Amino acid sequence: MDAQRPETIGIACDHAGPELKAILIADLKTAGFGVLDLGTNGPDSVDYPDFADKLAAAIKKGEVKRGILICGTGIGISIAANRHSHVRAALAHNTTAAKLSRLHNDANVLALGARVIGSEVARDCLKVFLETEFEGGRHQRRIDKMTVS
Ligand code: RB5
Repeated sequence: MDAQRPETIGIACDHAGPELKAILIADLKTAGFGVLDLGTNGPDSVDYPDFADKLAAAIKKGEVKRGILICGTGIGISIAANRHSHVRAALAHNTTAAKLSRLHNDANVLALGARVIGSEVARDCLKVFLETEFEGGRHQRRIDKMTVS
């Protein structure tokens, strides 16, 4: 993180996620992060790929380095995000997966399922995801094999 400026974290969800998104945004702000909220912000039905694409674009443009995506299960929005070659989105249902997604996969996006995990688990996953550094080494070699140049 730049010592001068807090890191900004991108966050987006479909209509299953606004409540959880608001909870996680509050946690991010309390922890001192900036937040780029890419919607959606209400209950009207939307399509999760559009919100995965918004976060992928923000990462591509350098507006954020890391982000959070939420849909009902976390499955659709993580699949959509991983269509972008610069995104490594990890769907986590527990803190072990969230931690290992950073240690081993250098995940830059955490995907969460608002309808399948509770908000306290989601909050813990986010905290661990943000605090855990990539281990590098043999894991970098594996990531390189997935990186399209
Ligand atoms: C929306 O109803 C739901 O399908 C979506 O949030 C997500 O769970 C898809 O994977």
